[in-house]
Amino acid sequence: MKKYVISGGKPLYGEVSLSGGKNAVVGIIPATVLVKGVCIIENVPNINDVRELYEIMEKMGADISYIDEKTLRVDCTNVVSYVADYDAVRRLRASYYLIGALLGRFRHARVGLPGGCSFVERPIDYHIKGFEALGAKVSIEHGIVIADAEKLEGASMNLDFPSVGATVNIMLAAVLADGLTVIENAGKEPHIVDIANFLNAMGAQIKGAGTDVIKIRGVSELHGGRYEIIPDQIEAGTFMAAAAAAGGRVTIRNVIPKHLESISAKIEASGATVEEFDDYIIVSRDENTPIKKVNVKTLPYPGFPTDMQSQMAALLCRAQGTSIITETIFSYRFQYVDELRRMGANLTVDGNVCIVEGVEKLTGAAVKAEDLRAGISLVIAALVAEGITEISEVRFIERGYENLVDKLLSLGANVKVVDDEAEPTVSEAKIS
Ligand code: UD1
Repeated sequence: MKKYVISGGKPLYGEVSLSGGKNAVVGIIPATVLVKGVCIIENVPNINDVRELYEIMEKMGADISYIDEKTLRVDCTNVVSYVADYDAVRRLRASYYLIGALLGRFRHARVGLPGGCSFVERPIDYHIKGFEALGAKVSIEHGIVIADAEKLEGASMNLDFPSVGATVNIMLAAVLADGLTVIENAGKEPHIVDIANFLNAMGAQIKGAGTDVIKIRGVSELHGGRYEIIPDQIEAGTFMAAAAAAGGRVTIRNVIPKHLESISAKIEASGATVEEFDDYIIVSRDENTPIKKVNVKTLPYPGFPTDMQSQMAALLCRAQGTSIITETIFSYRFQYVDELRRMGANLTVDGNVCIVEGVEKLTGAAVKAEDLRAGISLVIAALVAEGITEISEVRFIERGYENLVDKLLSLGANVKVVDDEAEPTVSEAKIS
């Protein structure tokens, strides 16, 4: 099993270029099921979640190949099965998008309940209500979502919460339905807009993505085409938090600064400087400038993203004073707390609030990534900790970050990937 071994205490200097958005690509690949024709998808990140989706869809008859390192060719013309492989779908959250896509194309879907990061129970009742509003009958039997519709007819619906997954899934089921579907209180996240833009590029008629009312006029079929995925908002925020935490000066290329406004505001409040340009930003903090306490509350977009909550916590571990982090999207998302405590952080969780008392220093320890974002917070903490940190279960981190180690190395970080069996202990690990 792979581990990261990080020797902390070095500021970060240099440039990184962002990969394509994880939460966009994991919606766009299932969306290709709706298309009879060839989709060329550019800027595809090479992450575990993409590989898992690729495998599930190939088993259903999709013809998928890489044109180059970042360009995927997907042809779902010959997909004949509306049954997704049960074991494979349990490995990632975004497999739930296959329900909407298969239902939209075949009027039937059989997809196991999704897996992915399990920091909290993640129901799909809003998705199901949406499918039912379009005319489908949906049940869950033996862990499999069974959705069938004689026909799908556009309908108006108001989401109880602007759920990302429900907004996208209903869009997927509605693009080939008859008539007009209106989703009110829809999610507005950049990746929702990206998935809508992809579908429109293939002939769908979706209006209003990015606002809280999305209107989808059903069309009879989608055609092939070419589409480039947006850069990853959360990867950008992660490098911003890493630069602010470790100090130094990092240029982050291929960003959409508008997507980063809420993150930039908090990074600046922590005492770092964020300079914005057309498609890149520079984050810097002099190592002698103290990190300031910041209160953070997660909210749906354009608020501060829950997917950046753990990275902020890692940054604030060394702030002067007490920071309060309030998580409002998920009931519990503090899987990193015990691990950061091993490194000397002073964190207390009370319900959906994490209180971070700043400490002067963090110290390296053997820690475990409990999920994707919990794992990346340990990487940030390790970059600033004194001594060596060994992070296990990095497969979670690699679900969502492409070439993380290479990118960190290019910024001057001291990171090494080791094999569990080959190099078992921290003390023996030699850092290159
Ligand atoms: C997506 C993102 C994830 C991000 C999250 C919030 C993907 C693949 N994943 O997850 O990275 O952290 O948005 O920005 O894009 N809820 C229900 N019933 C439902 C659906 C959601 O109660 O049917 C609740 C959830 O439990 C949660 C809240 O609504 O409390 C928001 O969840 P949602 O926006 O749907 O998140 P995901 O789509 O799971």
